[in-house]
Amino acid sequence: MTAVRLRDASIGYGDVAVVQGVDLAVADGEAVAVLGSNGSGKTTLARGLLGLATVLGGEVEVLGAPVGRPRERGRIGYVPQRHTVSGAVPATVREVVGVGRLARLGPFGRPRPADRAAVQDAVAAVGLADRLGDPVASLSGGQQRRVLVARALAAEPELLVMDEPTAGVDAASQDALATVLAGVSATGTTLLVVTHETAALAGVLTRAVVVDHGRIAYDGPLAGAESTHDGHHHPEDTGLPPARGYRQDQPRVTTDGGR
Ligand SMILES: Nc1ncnc2c1ncn2[C@@H]1O[C@H](COP(=O)(O)OP(=O)(O)OP(=O)(O)O)[C@@H](O)[C@H]1O
Ligand SMILES: [Mg+2]
Repeated sequence: MTAVRLRDASIGYGDVAVVQGVDLAVADGEAVAVLGSNGSGKTTLARGLLGLATVLGGEVEVLGAPVGRPRERGRIGYVPQRHTVSGAVPATVREVVGVGRLARLGPFGRPRPADRAAVQDAVAAVGLADRLGDPVASLSGGQQRRVLVARALAAEPELLVMDEPTAGVDAASQDALATVLAGVSATGTTLLVVTHETAALAGVLTRAVVVDHGRIAYDGPLAGAESTHDGHHHPEDTGLPPARGYRQDQPRVTTDGGR
């Protein structure tokens, strides 16, 4: 089966297309990096797969059905691009990660031992086992990012879409996440990871799609993507040394406010 298929797809907000004319097929079990400059449309593309941005033209199929079908619920994990877990209601790590299990709960919505185990495993996988009962609000921004990753993992999804899961996360935790994702990928889960930092995930993500001004500028091996993408920049114009890899040597600026 094809996990994700876009045919001449346009995706945007209101009637404004941000992503335009995209053809993309991701086979089951593939691990794909989505790269591109700020504002190129990566998040819009990811949100289009979740039914959170509007498909304005063409076709977007996820897990074999047009996007947004209820039966996809629980089959897709999503880590939105945001620093933190927001919300007025105080919730513990266990509760927030438990939300990832909702679509899988048994009769009467009661968590079964398997659900509790999935939550604990997911929290342990992101290195927060000792914080299970703590309010999420008491965690640092990077730890909260990891809670969101755990929430997506707990769903044991067939397709895992992550929007900059490593942003604001320290190097050791990035390496830990890479190990977790390698394990998830090995079980056959399809990965689509928007990232600016491919270094940590290079061993997991094999294919790259570079988005440029809402269109796909490159689709091929991850190793080849970086030179392609660097080609859009002219470091000599900025007076900065040429970037090696993918912005890994630059400070990150995150403008996202939680969309
Ligand atoms: N909710 C929204 N409503 C209207 N326009 C939006 C919305 N979200 C994003 N856009 C616009 O879509 C374009 C692409 O934004 P998008 O967030 O997809 O980029 P991105 O590649 O994820 O960037 P970044 O690397 O900064 O996360 C931008 O011009 C942005 O202003
Ligand atoms: Mg984005």
